[in-house]
Amino acid sequence: MCSIIGYYGKDSAAPIIVKGLKRMEYRGYDSVGVATESNNKIELKKGIGKVNEVNSKIQLDSLPGKIGIGHTRWATHGKVTEFNAHPHPSNSGKIAIVHNGIIENFEELKKQLEDEGYNFKSETDSEIIANLLQKHYEKTKNVKETILKTVSEIKGHYAFVAMFENGQLVAAKFHEPLIIGVGKDDFFLSSDVLGFIEFTDDAIYLENGNFVILEKNKFQILDFQGEHVKYGITKVSKEFGDVYKGDYAHFTLKEIHEQYETVLKAGEKTQEAIEKTANYIKHAKNIYITGSGTSYNSALIAKQIFSKYAKIKAEPIISSELQFSPNSIEENSIIIAISQSGESADVLDAVRIGKESNCKVIAIVNLMTSSLAREADVVIGMNCGPEIGVAATKSFTSQLVVLYKIVQKLTDNKVTINFEKFSESVLKILENPTKIKKIAKVLKDISDIYVLGRGINYPIAMEAALKLKELTYIHAEGIPGGELKHGPLALMDSNVFVIIINPNDSTYSDTLTSAREIKARGAKIIGVSDIESDVYDYWIEMPKIDQVLYPISEIIPIQFLSYYAALEKNTDPDYPRNLAKSVTVK
Ligand code: F6R
Repeated sequence: MCSIIGYYGKDSAAPIIVKGLKRMEYRGYDSVGVATESNNKIELKKGIGKVNEVNSKIQLDSLPGKIGIGHTRWATHGKVTEFNAHPHPSNSGKIAIVHNGIIENFEELKKQLEDEGYNFKSETDSEIIANLLQKHYEKTKNVKETILKTVSEIKGHYAFVAMFENGQLVAAKFHEPLIIGVGKDDFFLSSDVLGFIEFTDDAIYLENGNFVILEKNKFQILDFQGEHVKYGITKVSKEFGDVYKGDYAHFTLKEIHEQYETVLKAGEKTQEAIEKTANYIKHAKNIYITGSGTSYNSALIAKQIFSKYAKIKAEPIISSELQFSPNSIEENSIIIAISQSGESADVLDAVRIGKESNCKVIAIVNLMTSSLAREADVVIGMNCGPEIGVAATKSFTSQLVVLYKIVQKLTDNKVTINFEKFSESVLKILENPTKIKKIAKVLKDISDIYVLGRGINYPIAMEAALKLKELTYIHAEGIPGGELKHGPLALMDSNVFVIIINPNDSTYSDTLTSAREIKARGAKIIGVSDIESDVYDYWIEMPKIDQVLYPISEIIPIQFLSYYAALEKNTDPDYPRNLAKSVTVK
């Protein structure tokens, strides 16, 4: 949710930290701050807003020193204020910390510290870490002892980096991402490889319950019992450093456009894992598919295509709901976890529940080094490159391609799919957004949009509604066509727009009937279809595409529509308010 970074090296720390924060801004972007150590003194600047805004106002990158820490925030405890922004200094000002995660027992610890005379400037849970460190350091004068005592007291999920005024940097990880970047003459501590990929592609992925102490060109990694741990250096794919918009106005637009290529690449590097997955599925007692948000919508589609083409029953489960019905997971089944980031706390939790029931875990992820990938027995890569726009676009279509590839294997290639041809059709949709731009203009002042679809087109309608909500802040809802008359029809009037996902498949005529019922109540209809109809006030014409993959393509015009409507409404399509790309808190 938040991004944290630490730098220890030979160069000026602040500009490197600001650059890293800019790249990791997708993780949280309501406020930002940097602290550095110079001449045994901690200097600190922070402010509300995005990295570039704050930096141009208060020059975060001008802080002196070669050691520093930085943070971009996605508020959990306390409003978006300068005081709540990180880094947080301890009361003495001799230690500063940045934190990602949630300290569950912070109220109790805060009360204890207050009773001991500490005072708090922020409403955050994070500030207690700074003061606990101060308390223990003053007693022990030993960084290792200080960390051991601190982590034994805090409960929750966290990754934090602490900087001491003598220039020592320490970082601890417990169920939040923390990676060490190992350069030639410098070290990085970061939530994401994007924080340092420009400088080094050698990374150490810390395990939960580990911490690192950096000092003078060396580091040691210990566990929460104080024992040294073994670690390995992983080479990170440089491709993940490629996070530039190029000629596009926004990452979201770039990522929508990339889809004619990414649908060809999905799963490409992990063919063997796809085969293994199909094999597991064929022999599994039960198959559960879990994910959050967009990735859950993919799980819904997986259920449909597994059943339709391979006659295999699979149960989609919203990751955040699983903990409330853990008995629904039967022993020795398989759980397929879909997650672009591989870091969503809800998904990781669902996988943990699955593992407790001896399930095999299959991960479909974009980042092969993510926490989910490391938890899984089999890992399939979406392989769509970094997705920076907070709303999922290309990762959704890549997830679906992977799922179709699994279906191919499940049916021993009896379902024939021509991905090249499909990519050409996607390109056709991408080449002509003119009409969609015009429709986006009329959505500007609308307060409600409903998206209707039947069968496999219903999860597409759900995903369409999610995109519209996130990018335009317009209330949007996906509805299964047949349910209209069981309630939602009451909402239809001339202020409402309804998008009808209506391909030339077995759902066509029923959905057209729904469209007529809606139109009769005065609502405006946008038809997304390969067949024209007089019922549509606006027709988004879909090319004739092979029926098997057609549903994947239906989302693309809606991604465009959401993007262009966001521009009309002056919202930032890359960074929707209140959201973050990697939801690492529960
Ligand atoms: C929607 C969106 C979110 C994510 C969800 C899961 O556009 O971006 O709903 O899909 O937070 O994220 P991952 O797939 O990273 O687990």
